[in-house]
Amino acid sequence: MRIATVEATPNIAVVKYWGKRDNKIILPMEGSQSFTIDSLKTRTTVMFSDKFKEDEFWLNNKKVDLTDKEIAERMQQLNIIRERAGITLKAKIVSINCFPTAAGFASSASGLAALACAASRAAGLNLSAKELSILARLGSGSACRSVVGGFVEWHKGTKEDGSDSFAETIYPANHWPELRLVSAVLAEGKKKVSSRAGMKQTVATSVLYTARLAYLPTLLKEMREAVGRKDFAKFAELTMRESNNMHATMLDTWPPIMYLNDLSKQVIYAVGELNANEIKAAYTFDAGPNAHIYTLEKNVPEVKRMLEGINGVQKVIVSKIGNGPVYLEQEREHLIDPKTGNVREHYYDEKANLIVIKEDEK
Ligand code: PMV
Repeated sequence: MRIATVEATPNIAVVKYWGKRDNKIILPMEGSQSFTIDSLKTRTTVMFSDKFKEDEFWLNNKKVDLTDKEIAERMQQLNIIRERAGITLKAKIVSINCFPTAAGFASSASGLAALACAASRAAGLNLSAKELSILARLGSGSACRSVVGGFVEWHKGTKEDGSDSFAETIYPANHWPELRLVSAVLAEGKKKVSSRAGMKQTVATSVLYTARLAYLPTLLKEMREAVGRKDFAKFAELTMRESNNMHATMLDTWPPIMYLNDLSKQVIYAVGELNANEIKAAYTFDAGPNAHIYTLEKNVPEVKRMLEGINGVQKVIVSKIGNGPVYLEQEREHLIDPKTGNVREHYYDEKANLIVIKEDEK
């Protein structure tokens, strides 16, 4: 049967990807590193069938316009998968994010990793993690790090065809079992400048970006070593300084890009206070104001209290380190009915934190 369902989760980088050397097939200027987390998953079902007259994509129960240029670019992996599998069948893709409403979390990493895994499985391909990472990369750079779990490094590669630009696990999820990610939702809505447009502008205009590129290879090595030793104090300093460095190049971009808001800055100061006597927390920010704080299990209550004490923090989510995508094998877990090819009525129950497929309720 040409149907597959996969759940994938986001990753939060500690050495950030910000800048491409190839915009079409998404090759980065430098390597990056992240942890794949175990919550905020995206479930995606892909089905190929001669019943379908055209490709169709449903995200969070809304039909997505596949003729939109940016969407079409993000979905370029679909045609590559069809070509490799030797099929011309049209696809139906149904995807839902298990994120709290209006969380402002980027879903591109989990979404495009889930798509690479589900579409290739549905097409009958049995790809390696490296091949899946390369496919996911074509949709969104950071997605290439979500096809595997634990502490992950995206090797920038040097080849023009991108065949050596992929992510792999450096340390598995159970390497540092005490590590947690505490994420604070600070603002709603879509980001002002997309990461795609923003990083292009930084590479083109920022003077500081040259200094960033010069320091990244050493940082990648130091971070690998700190995580290997589970040296939280060193890891935390590297992580926070790296986030600051990326945001400095954003501000140095012309016209300037500012993703951090006043609340993000309050979090930065509050983490500084928390760390006054002992390093307990490490903040990192992506292309948006939400704060992601790495900490150890024993310090989670204190970090949560600190965040909840800041006026304007809307929600706090605690995650562990995750193992990467999961293939759901049960027929009833597909978001598409394999017999009819129809989308099954489904929704995300935020309270219970699970996906409900309406047919199950009967
Ligand atoms: O994959 P994109 O295009 O959404 O870029 C993500 C870039 C950052 O989140 C800011 C950094 C990173 O490495 O995840």
